[in-house]
Amino acid sequence: MNMKTAIYPGSFDPITNGHIDIIKRSRRLFDEICISVIHNPSKQSLFTMEERINIIQSVFVADSGVTVEGFEGLLVDFAKKKNTFNIIRGLRAVSDFDYEFQMALTNRKLEFRMNTVFFMTDEKYSYLSSSLVKELAVYGADINEFVPEEVACILNKKLDTAGGINK
Ligand code: PNS
Repeated sequence: MNMKTAIYPGSFDPITNGHIDIIKRSRRLFDEICISVIHNPSKQSLFTMEERINIIQSVFVADSGVTVEGFEGLLVDFAKKKNTFNIIRGLRAVSDFDYEFQMALTNRKLEFRMNTVFFMTDEKYSYLSSSLVKELAVYGADINEFVPEEVACILNKKLDTAGGINK
């Protein structure tokens, strides 16, 4: 069978319900999605790459069409290694567009076979981001509407031990 595959790259620090919405929508089009977690040594993240991968794996444990891997360096190199030429990205609002357009065209310039497929998030997540969730959690707000229960738990525990955030 000719499997339709794609990668969904991002920081996922941590994964939110907005990301999950995008993954579920894209699963209707693609047989297999590799959630690709970036390791960017020059950008501080709250969770290590391994922690971010473990969190996502626990969220998608029931879906064998979703895999999770870390990557470092250029996204197109990772995609080529996976033999996939479809990149998934989510769009929340017009404000996302400039950056996403630039990234999509850059990736296609680097590798002409590369296509970026955009999914519009559910409007109820249109303002949501990992940074916002972390900020709310720092100030003790209820984040259960924005991330799965297990992610809220891990995030609150992490903040207790970290004593701060890197948004
Ligand atoms: O969740 P994010 O932080 O918006 O994800 C950004 C990401 C990881 C998709 C982007 O920074 C990326 O692809 N980085 C890898 C480096 C790369 O390939 N750069 C050239 C394309 S702009």
